Amino acid sequence: MNNQLFQDFDFAQLHSPDFKEDSVREVLILPILTQLGYGQTQIIRSKSLLHPFLKIGSKKRPITLIPDYLLKVENSHAWVLDAKAPHQHIQSGDHVAQVFSYSIHPEVRSKFFALCNGWAFALFRQDTPEPILYFELAKIAHYWEELSAYLSPSSFQTGKVLTYITPKKAVKSAPFDYLERPLLEEIPVKKRAAKRHFGVHGYFTKQSWNVVNEYIGNFSQAGDVVLDPFGGSGVTAVEAMMLERRAIHLDLNPMSTFLIDALTSPVDLIDLQCSFERIKTAYLEREPKTEEAIEKALKHYAYPKDFVLPKGSDVKVVQDLFSKKQLAQLGFLKHLITKETNKNVLKALLLAFSSTINKINLTYHSSTYTKENAGDSSPMRYYRYRIAPKGVDLDLMKTYEKKISAILNAKREIAHKINDKTIDQLQIIRGTATDLSFLKKESVDYIYTDPPYGKKIPYLDLSVMWNAWLDLPVTDQDYSLEAIEGGEHEKSKADYNTLIAKSIEEMYRVLKFDRWMSFVFAHKDPEFWHLIIDTAERCGFEYAGAVAQKNGQTSFKKRQNPFTVLSGQLIINFRKVRKPKYIMKASLGMDMGEIVMQTIEGVIAKYNGASLEQINDELIIKGLELGFLDLLKKEYSDLTPLLLDMFDYDKDTELFSIKQDKQFKTHVDLKLRVRYYLIFYLRRMEREKKTAEFDEIVLAMMPLLKNGTTPEAQTILSVLEDIAYRIGEGWRLTAEGQAAFDL
Ligand SMILES: C[S@@+](CC[C@H](N)C(=O)[O-])C[C@H]1O[C@@H](n2cnc3c(N)ncnc32)[C@H](O)[C@@H]1O
Repeated sequence: MNNQLFQDFDFAQLHSPDFKEDSVREVLILPILTQLGYGQTQIIRSKSLLHPFLKIGSKKRPITLIPDYLLKVENSHAWVLDAKAPHQHIQSGDHVAQVFSYSIHPEVRSKFFALCNGWAFALFRQDTPEPILYFELAKIAHYWEELSAYLSPSSFQTGKVLTYITPKKAVKSAPFDYLERPLLEEIPVKKRAAKRHFGVHGYFTKQSWNVVNEYIGNFSQAGDVVLDPFGGSGVTAVEAMMLERRAIHLDLNPMSTFLIDALTSPVDLIDLQCSFERIKTAYLEREPKTEEAIEKALKHYAYPKDFVLPKGSDVKVVQDLFSKKQLAQLGFLKHLITKETNKNVLKALLLAFSSTINKINLTYHSSTYTKENAGDSSPMRYYRYRIAPKGVDLDLMKTYEKKISAILNAKREIAHKINDKTIDQLQIIRGTATDLSFLKKESVDYIYTDPPYGKKIPYLDLSVMWNAWLDLPVTDQDYSLEAIEGGEHEKSKADYNTLIAKSIEEMYRVLKFDRWMSFVFAHKDPEFWHLIIDTAERCGFEYAGAVAQKNGQTSFKKRQNPFTVLSGQLIINFRKVRKPKYIMKASLGMDMGEIVMQTIEGVIAKYNGASLEQINDELIIKGLELGFLDLLKKEYSDLTPLLLDMFDYDKDTELFSIKQDKQFKTHVDLKLRVRYYLIFYLRRMEREKKTAEFDEIVLAMMPLLKNGTTPEAQTILSVLEDIAYRIGEGWRLTAEGQAAFDL
């Protein structure tokens, strides 16, 4: 290949003093670029870049930097390349530092940079000090595949472009092809509807079961292995089992593995009911109520002693979170429970006990709006052990009975999918996501995971009350492995980064090729989102798109500073493919205003009118994908004036739309624009009780669609068929088309 590529070039010529840097460029570099697939317009030679920091002389003449080649894909710079003379070093030293500085330049912002001195080619990533690929040019044929996997134009992507998709239809008709799975749009949350999750046992954060269920359904098939290495309360594992997948639940917190094991271990429901009745009778016969009985019970029955609570807690040790009566009664109840001899029944009884602890303690805050017993303990609610100002003295046995009943209902609901015959399809492991060595490489079909988000929740610290009552040990090593920032062990941001990065590496290793990972993330600081995407890419994942997804919080916080707070959480989707494409950052020479407008119009078209929240979320995603979130934050601290100026706003629906009878200003996907106008048009016709005939529709639409590409009548018809049906001579919106409007 090198013979053809360099036209039988004799490398001995490099020894000649006449063969200089410009010869390297013309004779050796240009053929490589052409062979990689770069056309003339994509090869930018000797572009002057303004030095971002330095100015010299009294007149402050700016210094310019001139990289030899900038390689462009779409509107971004994919990589930068400098030619060096044959005697110059290209693996380390000043030349490398110089080209690195081009790559981080605001007008470039490329992930990769390379140097070539005629003898050899060195490729670097911005974040690695050593070359990621280095070879002698004479042996280029051996390295060609690897080189083009990194650097050909098809190895790069700009972020997700909003396109017109009807995923439901696609899902039903097409055969299951992992790589062709559509990304899911935001899913409305149904938190309370599943007995298997709601009311069984609290956890600090819980994913919405129906969202997880839809993701598993979308990205995997029955029989597949689904992994969640930050499993928490076990929503992923339970939903995977409900969908007939094999499930692996892993968590560092013993409370988590206890919960999911106790919920899923099959029991005979009548045995459980009878056992509970026995306990209840025995308990009520000798419930410690008087001062004397309480003192006696405290001597007889075990309760946790001297487990230290995290620093900001209102009291020092676990036993101080309970009144004497609560301690005595809980100790007595636990004593009765532990007499149970059937292992799985015992687990279920203990699960109800653990869930009862959430209510029977001095940090219990009753809910202001609903019933007295609908509250929560403060570690679950405020992520801190805070003694409630107004204590509530709930009856222990009544609370326990309610929990038993919730668990019976949950077990009844899952029994047809999770039972003696299927339970071996579920693996529950207490361990760390940073070490999945119990799994073979390429053995998992889908990963849905929701790791901790930095500082917010120190899970092990907050679980101490439960782990102490359940006799579940937590070691110093567990604390050192916990992927959080802060907490009792004062972990740093760097600790957190390292642990998350290591866990992504492990997830990459165990996932099969051509499979997906959905990574939930709600960190407030965009820096961490970049960390996730960069780390995943470095491991070999390909970014496929992110979706803002609420997780059940209904309160809408009016945000002072958009672009810092997402309205919910982000689900970031990755694929493990053999030839991943890398995301390119937008170069800042590009018109940011154009990207902002295009994004806003795109969201408006997609949702047929969009709320501030929807616009904001989409801009965060764009900023994240294109690497300019920080700039967005600075330049558009408040979006509202821009929106009110450029778009129509409906006060009742709180939606922004394109100004009436005006065109889209930027290039929004054609079908999306067609669909947007069609929906508005058909709605108007319906309101005015007029028939919308095809010819009239086309006539009304054409002037609005002139911008960019003009659609053919056929395109309009195909979109029309998706959202409307024929009635007589005219067209009417289908329920689905209406729903699109009501989104
Ligand atoms: C956001 S929660 C997961 C909640 C879960 N998605 C649910 O719906 O219940 C994060 C979990 O990660 C766990 N965790 C923290 N560090 C870990 C590590 N190194 N390995 C495994 N799990 C870890 C915490 O114990 C916690 O349960």
